[in-house]
Amino acid sequence: MSGGLAIEILSAVSYDLRRPMPAFDIDSYVGRSRAVDLAAIDWAAVPRHPVPSEALRTMRFMQDIESHTIIYLRSLLATRAIDDPDVATFLACWVYEETFHGLALQRFLEAAGAPVGERALPRGREPWAKRIEAAATAMVSKAWPDFCAVHMTWGAINELTTLTGYRRLAALTDHPVLAELLDRIVLDESRHFFFYYRQAEIRMQRRAVARTARVLVDRFWAPVGSGVQPDAELRFLATYLFKGPDGRAAARKVDETIRRLPGFETVQLLEAWMDRHIPHATPLDEPARDDAVPEPARDAVHEGGRNGHGNH
Ligand SMILES: [Fe+2]
Ligand SMILES: [Fe+2]
Repeated sequence: MSGGLAIEILSAVSYDLRRPMPAFDIDSYVGRSRAVDLAAIDWAAVPRHPVPSEALRTMRFMQDIESHTIIYLRSLLATRAIDDPDVATFLACWVYEETFHGLALQRFLEAAGAPVGERALPRGREPWAKRIEAAATAMVSKAWPDFCAVHMTWGAINELTTLTGYRRLAALTDHPVLAELLDRIVLDESRHFFFYYRQAEIRMQRRAVARTARVLVDRFWAPVGSGVQPDAELRFLATYLFKGPDGRAAARKVDETIRRLPGFETVQLLEAWMDRHIPHATPLDEPARDDAVPEPARDAVHEGGRNGHGNH
């Protein structure tokens, strides 16, 4: 692969993945780790600009996943991931930052008149499938000393997908406060991505490790939010953010970046998932999971959204 190796996160931040593995500076990351600054956001200005109903629905999904991080941490703590001091330190800061992403999105949704409301299930009560998955993960981790390579790869894919999703959301909406908030969140996600990516790259220099990690990703990977949010919501979000030429290009960039990891040159991720689950004719007309989106916003779904970003 030649072009497109540098990944630009924001205009001011880009990582050149061509460089020979500069170490991730964990001390500098810890020094800079802080909650997204909620006081710096002009919440009062949120209702002054329209938010497409698709964007509100997408943000509800994202808010749920961000605030699910603490639950994901529970299964992570049962694996070897925390044996590595750098990984353990990173995870402590990571969960803190992710938690604030959830709070920030919650605050935005409230300000936009579409509050998150009560959850159907208490946070700690996960579906059976998720609990079995966590138990199986802990078992594999015990049996395989290099299991952390899979976690790091998984993390790299998820962080890159997430930050790409936020950038797409910013591009699809024309809301100055949301743009400001998403810029701040994306900056955090980019640091998370870089940590996971470098960790995965280093660990998978050993071919046997890379081969096993690849088998597990091929077999078990699914986009962020799978199994936590209903499938219909995941399809809705994927259709809104990644359909159409620009969305496709963004999804492809995620896949191409991950293919630079040792042993992952041919891995099939987001685009292949889109091909399997979002047929080209899919319109954005799946019903919302509840009626929390306000009436005027819901009407906009059928009009292609207030900003005209309906069916791609
Ligand atoms: Fe996040
Ligand atoms: Fe993140």
